[in-house]
Amino acid sequence: LRFFLDTANLEEIRAGLRMGVVSGVTTNPTLVAREGVADFHGHVRTIAELVEGPVSAEVLALDLEGMVEEARPLAALHPQVVVKVPLTCEGLGAVRVLSREGIRTNVTLVFSPQQALLAAAAGATYVSPFVGRLDDVGEDGSGLVRDIASTFRVQSIGTQIIAASVRHPRHVAEAAAAGAHIATLPYKVLKQLSVHPLTEAGIRRFLEDWEATARHHG
Ligand code: E4P
Repeated sequence: LRFFLDTANLEEIRAGLRMGVVSGVTTNPTLVAREGVADFHGHVRTIAELVEGPVSAEVLALDLEGMVEEARPLAALHPQVVVKVPLTCEGLGAVRVLSREGIRTNVTLVFSPQQALLAAAAGATYVSPFVGRLDDVGEDGSGLVRDIASTFRVQSIGTQIIAASVRHPRHVAEAAAAGAHIATLPYKVLKQLSVHPLTEAGIRRFLEDWEATARHHG
């Protein structure tokens, strides 16, 4: 499993990179708006220059031509930019055009294996099933990742699965076991993954023992 950060916050990205485990970033219009960014393209370029890996930036248009027109300059910002396109009929058409031009895409807002199959058929580089939002409506988000992964395996589909809308560490473990290639995490969840009370207690004990012995010998 590879770890991406699901954020447009530069401090969070820097902190995640410092941990040595982040190999990509995903953003969406909500996350970018939260940062109060005036220059969207400039911000995407800055993120792409920080991260050694794919950086997803989403289009806002709803029609095929509009999506393609937004996607081309986004992709031209930096070789690592991946264009995020919503799973609609128009979006699928845009993914086909972009994949013919060699522009990588991340098809977002995927809530069924059938939608994931359509995205793959259109030539998507990545599909993003939204685990947490499906749980929110009483369905099984991790089950969706499992179904997409097994369907792609049976069908020998190379499109990579990004488990998205991840809310807590259990989602991450489930995404990995289900066969997701990547989990994109809010910074808070990335930090939570590393924490265990026994690790902290162990470090405290090691230091106390060391200092007690040092005092004894000193
Ligand atoms: C996907 O790439 C999205 O940015 C994201 O995971 C959405 O998650 P949310 O449901 O927490 O908004």
